[in-house]
Amino acid sequence: MSNDPLVQAAIDVRLRAYAPYSRFQVGAAVAAADGRIFTGCNVENAAYPEGTCAEAGAIAAMVAQGGRDIRRVVVCGGGDAACTPCGGCRQKIREFASPRTPVTMVSAGGAVLLVRTLAELLPDSFGPDSLA
Ligand code: THU
Repeated sequence: MSNDPLVQAAIDVRLRAYAPYSRFQVGAAVAAADGRIFTGCNVENAAYPEGTCAEAGAIAAMVAQGGRDIRRVVVCGGGDAACTPCGGCRQKIREFASPRTPVTMVSAGGAVLLVRTLAELLPDSFGPDSLA
């Protein structure tokens, strides 16, 4: 159990991941500007490239409920090493977060393994403002 609700949400949703091929379950939780928490887990597919990441699911859930601003992200992987978002997910987070938004990686038990800003994970990023 974690006393951080966002960490606990990522731990909980990871247990619902569908990862029969990689056996690597991931949970992600994002905190929106109004404090609401949205979660996602990885959902793999027999046609491997069609699988989706936990972060993508959490972002889709947020947008579907009207959220537009990510204030914090937690990613929960299974191993001892931090499960950092893949490159595609870093860009997906960028769409709704600022370069200063913290991304926290935790173990399956909720231990904080790594904290990075989005800018550290995705330097010199291309975002919505780049099109202005
Ligand atoms: N995965 C995620 O869901 N998020 C990450 O941050 C890294 C990787 C998933 C994709 C795939 O289902 C499995 O983990 C192994 O790559």
